[in-house]
Amino acid sequence: MIYSQEPSWKANPSGSPVLEDERNSSRHPKGDDMNYIKKPEWSMPEREATPESVFLNRRKFLAGGAGLMLSQMVTPPYWPERDGPVALAKAKKGVAHPKDQTVGLYPARRNPAFTLDRPLTDEKVAAEYNNFYEFGGNKAISWLAKRMETRPWQVEVKGHVKKPKTYDIDELIKGMTLEERLYRFRCVEAWAMAVPWTGFKISELIKKVEPTSKAKYVKFTTFLNRKVALGQLQVWYPWPYVEGLTMKEAMNDLAIMGTGIYGHPMPQQHGAPLRLVVPWKYGFKSIKSVVSIEFTDKRPRTFWEKAGPSEYGFWANINPKFNHPRWSQASERMLGTNERRPTLLFNGYAKWVGDMYPDMNNRKYFM
Ligand code: MTE
Repeated sequence: MIYSQEPSWKANPSGSPVLEDERNSSRHPKGDDMNYIKKPEWSMPEREATPESVFLNRRKFLAGGAGLMLSQMVTPPYWPERDGPVALAKAKKGVAHPKDQTVGLYPARRNPAFTLDRPLTDEKVAAEYNNFYEFGGNKAISWLAKRMETRPWQVEVKGHVKKPKTYDIDELIKGMTLEERLYRFRCVEAWAMAVPWTGFKISELIKKVEPTSKAKYVKFTTFLNRKVALGQLQVWYPWPYVEGLTMKEAMNDLAIMGTGIYGHPMPQQHGAPLRLVVPWKYGFKSIKSVVSIEFTDKRPRTFWEKAGPSEYGFWANINPKFNHPRWSQASERMLGTNERRPTLLFNGYAKWVGDMYPDMNNRKYFM
């Protein structure tokens, strides 16, 4: 998610907006990079590409001698090109945590209401191409995410609810109705996959904790542990990762808390032991490794909204008509096959979710 202060469609000397498709494609990426810290060759100078406050903080931090420490800690003593396959082979030995008490619940019954218009993505491909900034800004973090212990794990459900509760993850999952759903998944970077998630409807949890009339939004928060997630040492990101939905969105039938994928418990890199899955929104809404679910009256400011407010917003509904400021959203690249497919409004889920957004021409709902 490379963040530029000035959306590039504005940077046209004639003053009129230029659609991404009309621009010189060799100079502009087709997505696949949410990182505004990395510096691809086409990017602008770092000072221009980074929000000033973030840039200055980083400078101060580095000047304070932290640069050396960071370079040693963020860059691990092993390197994907050198050790990746070995580390990955080790990591793959057991997908589930040895103390996971929910293994017997998989595979869950598949819900036939959700069918696909494309083949499922190969499991290995999906498992080795991830966005999980807590473990680094590139896609090959699956082996680093294995550092994360997912048992014991607690999830605090709090805020404007009659029955707040801190759940042990096994107790939480065992108390819900698990089902498998085949969903399309579309990242804002214009890559896509189709995967079988296992999970439970958020509405089931909501009914258990009984929100009061003050609850207007649901705020989800990821763990914070800089010893395990070395990406969280990158102080220019607003850790911990936060996401949010309106109550109506959270109650929608499509919105699930994912606990597994491909018929087994969720591996760490996909967001074990509990992640959000909202397939009509860009992938960054699907927050991983959740430790807190809070019912609030204020709209939460989300991780990417804070990191790059001119490019990423709260709603993030998928719409091929509204381009990302720096690349087209008209089509997507399927992981594994590299097939290009046209992107669908709400990722093809308009029938389920379209009525929640009154104005399809309002860009706000799609940012
Ligand atoms: N959740 C957390 N906590 N940290 C992240 O960096 N990345 C998001 C989302 N959830 C992210 C996250 C983005 S940008 C995407 S596209 C999806 O996770 C990727 O999910 P996957 O790696 O399981 O395909």
